[in-house]
This record gives sequence, structure tokens and C-alpha cells, in this order.
Amino acid sequence: MTESGQSAPTPTESAPGSAQPAPGDRPTGDRLTDDRGALAPRDLQERMRQEAYLADRGLATAVSLALRLGRPLLLEGDAGVGKTEVAKVLARILDVELIRLQCHEGIDASQALYDWDYPRQLMALRAMEALGAAPDGSVEHAAEGASLDEVSDRLYTERFLLERPLLRALRSGGRAVLLIDEIDRADDEFEAFLLEILSDFQVSIPELGTIATATPPVVVLTSNRTRDLHEALRRRALYHWIDHPDAATETEIIRVRAPEVPAGLARSVADVVVRLRQLDLFKPPGVAETLDWARALTLLDVSALDRDVLVDTLSALVKDHDDLARVRADLDRVLGG
Ligand SMILES: Nc1ncnc2c1ncn2[C@@H]1O[C@H](COP(=O)(O)OP(=O)(O)O)[C@@H](O)[C@H]1O
Ligand SMILES: [Mg+2]
Repeated sequence: MTESGQSAPTPTESAPGSAQPAPGDRPTGDRLTDDRGALAPRDLQERMRQEAYLADRGLATAVSLALRLGRPLLLEGDAGVGKTEVAKVLARILDVELIRLQCHEGIDASQALYDWDYPRQLMALRAMEALGAAPDGSVEHAAEGASLDEVSDRLYTERFLLERPLLRALRSGGRAVLLIDEIDRADDEFEAFLLEILSDFQVSIPELGTIATATPPVVVLTSNRTRDLHEALRRRALYHWIDHPDAATETEIIRVRAPEVPAGLARSVADVVVRLRQLDLFKPPGVAETLDWARALTLLDVSALDRDVLVDTLSALVKDHDDLARVRADLDRVLGG
């Protein structure tokens, strides 16, 4: 990370009279990749496309900057616009492990960071007791005679530590994409706790000491915006809003993800979905629903969309009772009539 401008000055930078770049130094201006393998936006866009993900320039730029600046990337948008997929694709491009922390109501540090394996600790304790009570009483590791401190020293070791996603990411030495998915579902306190981890990239486990990393993982946070996130979290991360794709882009996504769907049908499907999203539905269809519907129509050998087809297959696309009624009342408009 010596070129990122974030770390302390390197010897090269502070050495007097070193105006000439040292051999092997890459010029900062036109380099495509840095130490994290971060690509320039256009190359990243191309690489994502090779992984069947279509990113517009704004998204590719946000991802590229997050990688190069070593900052978390916060992606917000409606369900199904491709937020989670960005992290998955990124892990494939960087050829690193994807570590996913799925947030939910009530999630806490023991589920996110680490926990102790209590059942195994209890078993070990029992075993120590049993050995201590053995007739000859001579067993070396017996609990009997050991002080309370000694016993807990033996119980709170790496062996009994349960690594959760944040700790695993912290220990990855930068060889991971950490996906913190749907952070808006966690509560305020958890968000504050996350913020602390994301700023220090170190945790202190009282029984084991401090675990820190010099190279933090790539961090992608997603939010469906069911509630507002803390200002502090927004400030720490780079932010990008992902919109539903326009009809042309969604047609291309269908072509890339479901090549069995004929081109003409793909375009009609995308047009209908775009109009559906204008209906102010409770749950507007996401790209996953578009793909499901396009595949379903292809299986049914549908070549042109009409009222009957739409009525019969609507449930692949709209999955809320009230929304279904809303769409049925407006079929002609949805079909573009
Ligand atoms: N821009 C895109 N390019 C290709 N596929 C996409 C794109 N956006 C969404 N998808 C598809 O839609 C699915 C749902 O996306 P996902 O990332 O789960 O949405 P979100 O996390 O925003 O709810 C993905 O599995 C992927 O197949
Ligand atoms: Mg998601």
C-alpha cells in the first residue's frame, strides 16, 4: 500500500534527493493496477462483464476508487438491483475468498466477530475434572489442584475459539472480500460496533490479545434502505446508489445471464418490467425476477407477450398479493398498449 498515499511515508519517499523513481517503481499516473490488483474503472467494467455483471460507469468508478483508496464501499438501492452480486463478482475478479456477514435484526458481536465454543469448553472441563479425580491423582493436566486462572487459560485458547465472518476477514491478510450484507437490517448499536471495526481493523479478545491486520480486506456493505444509516458510516465508506437498470441494459443482462432467451423476447420482457416498476408497487421486481420470468417464458415457448401470457405468468415477476391486483388492473398499460 505504499503507493496509495494513505500509509506512512516510505523510506523512498522520505529519502533526500530521490527525485528519480527507484528502479521497479511504477509511475503513478498511468498504472492500471496497484498492490490490491485494483483496476481502472474501464478495465473493471470489462472484467465485471466477463463475470456476467453489467456495471455502468458510475458503479465501476465507485468500485475502482474503493479498491484503490482502501475504503469500504457502501451500495444502496432497492432489492434486486445487483448490490450483493457486486461483492461476489469482485471476489472472483480479485481471486480471493468471499466472506459474507448477513445482517439481521438482533445480530451481535458473538455472531459477527467471534464466540467461544461453550459446549466443547464444558466437555473439556468435565474431562479435566474426571482426570483430576483419577485414583492415582497424578495426571499432569488435571483440573484438581490447578488454580482458576490456569483452568481458564486452558479453556480460552484458539482451540475453543469460533471464528465469525469479521474475525475471519480480519485474519485474511487482505485476501478476502468482506460482504456486510443488508446492514440496514441490523440495529443502531451493531452499526456503531461495525464502524469501530472498520476504522481500526483490529479487535481485542480479552483472553487472547489483540488481533490486527496491516492489509484490510476489501469491504462491500449493502443496504436496501429500510432505514437511514449513520452519518459516520456514510463518511467512512464510499457511497454508490444502484438504480434499476434501464430497458436496454436489462435486455443485455438477460442476454448475458440467460442466453437461451431469444433476443426479441428479452427486449419485450425488459420493456414490460420497466413499465411495471413505474406502477409504484410495494415490491417492484428486481433483476432476479426479470431473469426468472424471461426463463419461464422461454420454457413455455412464448414468442410474443400478450394479456393471456402476462396473466398466466405474472407470479414469476410480481410476488406480492396487493401488487398482483394492482398490475392486473393495469395490464394494458404494462403491455405498452
Ligand atoms: N447489473 C447486473 N448484471 C448482471 N446481473 C445482475 C445485475 N444486477 C442484478 N443481476 C442479477 O440479479 C440477481 C439479484 O441481484 P442481487 O445482487 O442479489 O440484488 P440485491 O443484493 O441488490 O438485492 C443477481 O444474482 C444477478 O443474477
Ligand atoms: Mg442483496
